[in-house]
Amino acid sequence: RDDSIAAPVDVLVVGSGIAGLTTALHAVEAGCRVTLVTKDVLEHANTRYAQGGIAGVMFDDDSAAAHIHDTLVAGAGLSDPDAVRVLVDEGPTRIRELVELGVAFDRAADGTWVKGLEAAHSYPRILHAGGDATGTAIELALVARLRASAVRVIEHAFLLDLIVEGGRVRGVELLVGDVAAEPDGRAAVEGRTERLDADAVVIATGGAGRLYAHTTNPPVATGDGIAAALRAGADVRDLEFFQFHPTVLETRVGPAGDDAPEDAFLVSEAVRGEGAVLRDETGRRFMLDVHPDAELAPRDIVARAIAQRMSEQGGRPVVLDTTELRPGLVERRVFLTRRFPTIDAAARERGYDWALTPLPVTPAAHYLMGGITTDLQGRTSLPGLYAVGEAARTGVHGANRLASNSLLEGAVFGARAGDAIPPDAASSAWPVPPVHPLAAHPPADAGTDGGFRSEAAGEPFSRAALQELMWADAGLVRDAHGLQRAAQQLARWRAEPRHPVSERDLEDENLLLVAAHLVDAARRRTESVGAHHRSDAPEAQAATTDAAASDPPAITPV
Ligand code: SIN
Repeated sequence: RDDSIAAPVDVLVVGSGIAGLTTALHAVEAGCRVTLVTKDVLEHANTRYAQGGIAGVMFDDDSAAAHIHDTLVAGAGLSDPDAVRVLVDEGPTRIRELVELGVAFDRAADGTWVKGLEAAHSYPRILHAGGDATGTAIELALVARLRASAVRVIEHAFLLDLIVEGGRVRGVELLVGDVAAEPDGRAAVEGRTERLDADAVVIATGGAGRLYAHTTNPPVATGDGIAAALRAGADVRDLEFFQFHPTVLETRVGPAGDDAPEDAFLVSEAVRGEGAVLRDETGRRFMLDVHPDAELAPRDIVARAIAQRMSEQGGRPVVLDTTELRPGLVERRVFLTRRFPTIDAAARERGYDWALTPLPVTPAAHYLMGGITTDLQGRTSLPGLYAVGEAARTGVHGANRLASNSLLEGAVFGARAGDAIPPDAASSAWPVPPVHPLAAHPPADAGTDGGFRSEAAGEPFSRAALQELMWADAGLVRDAHGLQRAAQQLARWRAEPRHPVSERDLEDENLLLVAAHLVDAARRRTESVGAHHRSDAPEAQAATTDAAASDPPAITPV
């Protein structure tokens, strides 16, 4: 690049959730020429599905110290305290920006914001909109602003690869063109390959929930950006930390039977925050035996306890009991419909009246804590490449994300990346954070069978087979044996000649690559910590920080 020419900086953002949209808006505001590409339509990002809300220190009787403490404790001591401080300190500014954009967070009769509580928060600091439709409210407000801005939007453009030339990222290769229908009903791209050059590329493609047989994530969550970064040699870390949400609506046993929608449906933690309890099939409130915070214990603990109960009761789901949330049936029905309209509609569609009968629930893959390693400005180990949102590993989540910190992370670090790019581009050398020694390490050799015969050996590759393998062997509870089996099967599938022709085939390649790295990371981490739980290894001595080790700062009870 010729620094003597004061041309606008060309920024290419890939992905259209809260992180990508925020980055694009901040970069365009800073004078950059911004293009945002997405493989679907703008509105169709994982952000839309966020129910619970966005956490932030928005009330006088809350404190940044308490939010920092809660985040560090949930992260099991593996969060980066500097990143957490940035998240918490800058969160309120970003939340107010959303309010200015028109996001109407729910207010009480006196006009103050309604305070939501979720697991492992010592204060009810979650703001929500439309009851349980926070993500949709935020996504639509940001999309509306983006459409009114100078950002160029290209929809139905699939990220094939990053272009790395002369040691830095110079742009992307995209699949663009005709839109065809995928088997899952989604519109997908078929067409020609195009190169798009840019001074800075920002990966904001979200996570990879579709690695697993059961997930809260929509079909677009196939790890495309993380896979492209891996292929380009960027540092990717902490993939072993995959968060499983404790409660999705179990539809396979539902009264609506075969007519019920098949996709797992998230039942927000905010429902437990309002007082719903978990019971096993004997009616016992089993979380009381597991953790002093019972249903509001950290997410990984609740999810594992549910899985344990399910296994003890022959795989049948536990139930989430909302039948005591308000004294009378009518009052309860009104409360549930108003407070959780999205969940209420989904429950009804699946044949449940949750004012009357507890909902059967199971855990499902929800959020990837790891991702492309970044510094506090979203810079990755590759000059010219940034990552934000779930695709990034900023260090805020450590081994387990605190509920409702994900929208916050997207907003805070999206803004930081958008603001950092113009000065970075103007400096004589692109600043790059120090490269981790494990940068771009190839997946560990799965080794020989070692006498162990893999049950899945010989099974041909399919997305469903991959998802079942990951669920069984790299899911909520892992051990060396299962991880080795997964590594071997993944290595076999990756060695098979395949010729991806459709967007779905390309997603499969991305899922396979991310799966191989996730399993590799899980094999390397031989202790249990946070969401990475190994039945063959003890809980790690928590690498607590000072802030996490102390009690939460005193706050005035609400
Ligand atoms: C939920 O509403 O339970 C999900 C919120 C989150 O994942 O942060």
